Amino acid sequence: MDRISNNLMDFAIAARESKKPGVLSFLWSADTHFQTMDNNVWGSSPEMIEEVCRAANLCDVDFMTVAGDLVNGYYDITHQRRDLFILSRLLEGCRAPLMLTMGNHDDNAWYSSGEASRKDYGGAEHVLTKENWYAIAMGSRLGGFVCDQENPFGGWYYKDFPRARIRVIALTTTDLPYIENPDKSLRYYGQWTYGFRQEQLRWLAEKALRFDEEGWGVMTLTHVSYAALALAIPGEKLPYNSDIVMGVIDCFKNKKSGSFEGASPDFPAEISCDFTENRSCEFIASFNGHIHSDLQSEENGILSLSTEDLVGHRSFDLVAIDRNKRQIVCKKYCGGPRPEKDRCITY
Ligand SMILES: [Fe+2]
Repeated sequence: MDRISNNLMDFAIAARESKKPGVLSFLWSADTHFQTMDNNVWGSSPEMIEEVCRAANLCDVDFMTVAGDLVNGYYDITHQRRDLFILSRLLEGCRAPLMLTMGNHDDNAWYSSGEASRKDYGGAEHVLTKENWYAIAMGSRLGGFVCDQENPFGGWYYKDFPRARIRVIALTTTDLPYIENPDKSLRYYGQWTYGFRQEQLRWLAEKALRFDEEGWGVMTLTHVSYAALALAIPGEKLPYNSDIVMGVIDCFKNKKSGSFEGASPDFPAEISCDFTENRSCEFIASFNGHIHSDLQSEENGILSLSTEDLVGHRSFDLVAIDRNKRQIVCKKYCGGPRPEKDRCITY
């Protein structure tokens, strides 16, 4: 075994000692912005990705997530595909289940918009669709999760962790229509527009939040927050149809029924849900990336948390959710001395 620093060893020992009945542990990272062009001058280095996987393995986490913006999207789609391929294979060094979600840099729409290395509109042909993104990044590993059978590469899936009785639901906020204008500009670029559409919303309302057993709790993983403007970049709005996501979660928490309609014609949605007979109803929190900082906010009745990035801060969180204490403990790790950034949140 390679030599382990005392810093990492103590971190891993503490992580392993936190594994108890009722406790879920996971490694929470985000925003790698991986990019092989220009000698990785912007994105996380391969060595950093390997270190994250090594930490996840030593900590024996239940799962690991990279919560969006895995690749940077500054260059053409060939490089975006290759970067995602290389990064995903590096991430396969993690032995725990890997739950990935798309961020606003991942669909390459930044390049297609003419504002990155390309200086004119590239059209939809330079967009990496969510289906292709998840096929490259996760592929048959998605078979280890419960997916939407009609959209197995859509980017929405969940996994149950029985020791803590927690269901982790991954959603994608890059669920967009790529509508081309005559000049090849797009009506929506993933770089600045986020949203949920009918198929994903219906799966959330009809499948992902359904329980035949009592005592389960739910957490979600998304890149952009669907509930907290405090976790948005200043001036941004919440993703399209966030009100439906929040409405469905509110019905889940209160064992109610409800019906919701999308307000935007490009994001049509009609969703009905009925949780009156559902057996579990605890919503724990929404975990996000995107804002590149450690924030928490309770808005619209939902606790939302974000973490720093791997690209600049070179740090990530080891999270332990204790169902019995109703506590979320986030321990910060970076390569050097441990920063004083641990968080303990009661939900
Ligand atoms: Fe982002």
